[in-house]
Amino acid sequence: MSEAVTCEVLDGVAILTMDNPPVNALGHAVREGLWTHLGAIAQDDTVRAVILRAEGRTFPAGADVREFGSPRAAPILSQVCDRLEACSKPVIAEIHGTALGGGLELALACHFRLADKSAKMGLPEVNLGVLPGGGGTQRLPRLVGAEVALDMMLSGKPVHAQQAEATGLIDKAVNKNLRQATMATARNLIAHNAGPRPTRAQTVGLGDPAGFATAVAAARTRHATTQRVNIARIINCVEAASLLPFEVGLAMERQAFDELETGPQAVALRHAFFAERRAAKIPEREGATLREVKTIGVVGAGTMGSGIAISCLDAGFPVTLLERNSEGLEAGLAKIRTNYENSVAKGRIDAQTQSDRMARLTGSTDMQDLGAVDLVIEAVFEDETVKRDVFAQLDQVMRSGAILATNTSYLDIDALAATISRPEDVVGYHFFSPAHIMKLLEVVVGSKTDPNVVATGFALAKKLRKVPVRAGVADGFIGNRILAAYRLAADFMVEDGATPAQIDHAMRVYGFPLGPYQVLDMAGLDISWARRKRLAAVRNPKDRYVAIGDKICEKGWFGQKTGRGYYVYGGENGPIENPDVLAIIDAERLEKGIAPRSFSDDEIQMRCVAAMANEGARLLDEAVALRPSDIDVVELYGYGYPRHRGGPMMAADQLGLLTVENALKSYQPEERQFWSPSPLFAELIKNGRHFSDLNEQ
Ligand code: NAI
Repeated sequence: MSEAVTCEVLDGVAILTMDNPPVNALGHAVREGLWTHLGAIAQDDTVRAVILRAEGRTFPAGADVREFGSPRAAPILSQVCDRLEACSKPVIAEIHGTALGGGLELALACHFRLADKSAKMGLPEVNLGVLPGGGGTQRLPRLVGAEVALDMMLSGKPVHAQQAEATGLIDKAVNKNLRQATMATARNLIAHNAGPRPTRAQTVGLGDPAGFATAVAAARTRHATTQRVNIARIINCVEAASLLPFEVGLAMERQAFDELETGPQAVALRHAFFAERRAAKIPEREGATLREVKTIGVVGAGTMGSGIAISCLDAGFPVTLLERNSEGLEAGLAKIRTNYENSVAKGRIDAQTQSDRMARLTGSTDMQDLGAVDLVIEAVFEDETVKRDVFAQLDQVMRSGAILATNTSYLDIDALAATISRPEDVVGYHFFSPAHIMKLLEVVVGSKTDPNVVATGFALAKKLRKVPVRAGVADGFIGNRILAAYRLAADFMVEDGATPAQIDHAMRVYGFPLGPYQVLDMAGLDISWARRKRLAAVRNPKDRYVAIGDKICEKGWFGQKTGRGYYVYGGENGPIENPDVLAIIDAERLEKGIAPRSFSDDEIQMRCVAAMANEGARLLDEAVALRPSDIDVVELYGYGYPRHRGGPMMAADQLGLLTVENALKSYQPEERQFWSPSPLFAELIKNGRHFSDLNEQ
């Protein structure tokens, strides 16, 4: 018998205890243990009630994700749930910690549910592209009705014990001594000779058929445009709970689960889940001695500097914010203050938290004030001379062993490090805007960066609640290199016949929240213009160059901040296509003798994905990225790549590498260099491999 589940009988109460650290995931050993013990309990006349509980910090927090995507050994969770519910003696779930996914489904299959008042319960399967597959879609609505059930299953967000009690999900939220409470309930049930109370026979949640149908219809409307295929299946299953016999609803849920689990979206979403965890595994962390980071300095209080400061303050660090002059400083401090005031107004933090955080913030215009800090993150203008000057000053004042990080978007970190006396302490921490919200942090490793400094960056990222990805030195590192390729692919299409709005539309259909030209307008067209000007000197004159963006900037149109860019802003009906930009595009085509042709959404998407995956493959060739999944993480967390597509490398795998390579080759006549497939494609194709095969190497 498995040790993952033990059974002890006390005064006629069988106490089934699951013990599978760290989170009691419902792997095979736990399922088998439950199955076997429940079989024995059924035969044991001395047992008159059952308590299902878990050892350690939580009731099962979900399935064992390692089992996802491949056939599970029997008994599967739904079988265990059915056996639990069919038990002839009353079964009480004793819930503490976080009962999530399969964990909550187990509890739903019990006849009574008691939870510690601090417990949380949720069904997050939606986030992995599937649905609750252990009967959750049928049992939960029978207890709480359609509205609450759909809300939990479609949002994936957990509810607190008190809410769970109010909605009927649990019988009681217990203030203290849950063990005693479940035992008392069991004794009481025995005293009253109570039998089981199977959830499948419950009707309280189905009592208002019209209300149930309304909630289902409302969910359908709310999610009418979703691209996630599991959403409709969840809604259908919940609807079935009110229309079909339990067994039929269960069969419907099973079929949906099996189909979804192996489908491309679930594969991509699981990939995203594992990719994030894998990104934290970097060579520098092995045997690293972390540098101590207790205090942080931020230089430059502009868009990024103020966001970075907020991020550090939120994580509990004292922060010294440095600007060139008192006006700049005051503006930066005001931005931070306003941010916290808004957070208080929206109820995200309380006034005390706001004043604690502001109390840890010190403003300064004197470099000497950074003399004692453990880490400085520089976020001044993206200008090599300015940055060099700041680094020279930091080199003078900072204590030995402190870390000098730069938030540069594109500049060469090795070149910057070479200008000071301690290149080993220099690293890139590339935050994304808004820095206190965006999850991604590219940790850019220079050729001289001390591995301990890199490892410290990863540890710090965790404290800042960021997702760190290791990147090597390259123009634009991982994210902005891929972004440049994406934009170039889009620009070629615009010059060849598409409109910016058409490209944006196609990429929104693909799943991006905004298309590339909307993003450009939002970020400011001047930023990419500055980069193009900087690279003009090294550009090969034979390379195809699209000058549309430059022509727009020459008019002083920098996007949203100037009211005009690819779109015109400020109108009553929201942004509209900028007709003057369309005229600029026409003029460019005329000048280059390009006869415009049409592009379908499919072609637009294929070209953009192929360009991004190809640039990703080059980043792997150049060892700028450690593994394909790191590139996907950068795109998912920094650039809005749709999670259900998994990122460009996963998307290329799913399209088929041969298909992508052939597409790249077919575009080559337009611009040989840009569309030339990375040799990695041929190598992988030849060996029948995918990008994902490189992830675990
Ligand atoms: P910004 O122009 O909003 O802010 C720069 C700030 O640095 C200004 O407030 C300026 O007064 C200050 N500054 C300039 N020289 C200084 C000096 N010598 N000492 C102290 N302060 C000085 O620029 P932004 O957008 O915040 O960018 C800063 C850095 O972050 C750049 O390297 C940029 O490439 C990078 N970055 C920008 C992103 C964005 O979306 N804006 C995203 C990721 C990185």
